[in-house]
Amino acid sequence: MSKVVVMDHPLIQHKITILRSKDTPVKEFRALANEIALLMGYESTRDIPLRDIEVETPLTKTMGKEVTKDIAVIPILRAGLGMVDALLSLFPSAKVGHIGLYRDPETHKPVEYYCKLPTEIEERTSIVVDPMLATGGSAVAAIDFLKARGAKNIKFMCLIAAPEGVKVLTEAHPDVDVFIGSLDEKLNDHCYIVPGLGDAGDRLFGTL
Ligand code: PRP
Ligand code: URA
Repeated sequence: MSKVVVMDHPLIQHKITILRSKDTPVKEFRALANEIALLMGYESTRDIPLRDIEVETPLTKTMGKEVTKDIAVIPILRAGLGMVDALLSLFPSAKVGHIGLYRDPETHKPVEYYCKLPTEIEERTSIVVDPMLATGGSAVAAIDFLKARGAKNIKFMCLIAAPEGVKVLTEAHPDVDVFIGSLDEKLNDHCYIVPGLGDAGDRLFGTL
């Protein structure tokens, strides 16, 4: 059964409110997406593996902990790219895999156009990032690709989710924990999240 965590930290709620505003310009939108992803990344990786390492302080040798280097950050293109730098600042030696998907405007179903993953994906903790979980089609397809290529330990992180997408994702991949910045009300007739923030890719890249 998936763990579904809706981040209720005041800073995340504050920043998501600004992110939603139609008056927030592209530069600020990018900065906020990065900051929220950073806060979420900290919380969503509480259970990642550590190994013991020896460290020498100015006084003595002691044992410390080292975060595993076996992390893969997997943005769903394009909008997932807006969350990558935040995770790389937390995990500088993480590898990055890209999965290119777009939603067909008529059917709203995901169409794959690119997939390039790090080696030994089966050994890594894969953190799939996409700002929006709407119908859930893109997240499910991306995680299907990852699993087909051997990935086992997968987390999904999004800034905004619709209840419909959470249900679809957790039913399709009950082994994947889902971290959400804000759980919104619903999807509209065009499968956009309401209240949402509009088209995340367009807002991040200024292609409105
Ligand atoms: C958006 C978003 C997700 C997807 C979510 O991408 O970034 O990938 O829609 O919708 P779903 O849950 O209904 O699949 P979009 O298809 O607009 O592509 P883009 O990132 O290239 O703009
Ligand atoms: N994709 C987006 O970018 N926004 C939505 O609200 C739904 C899907």
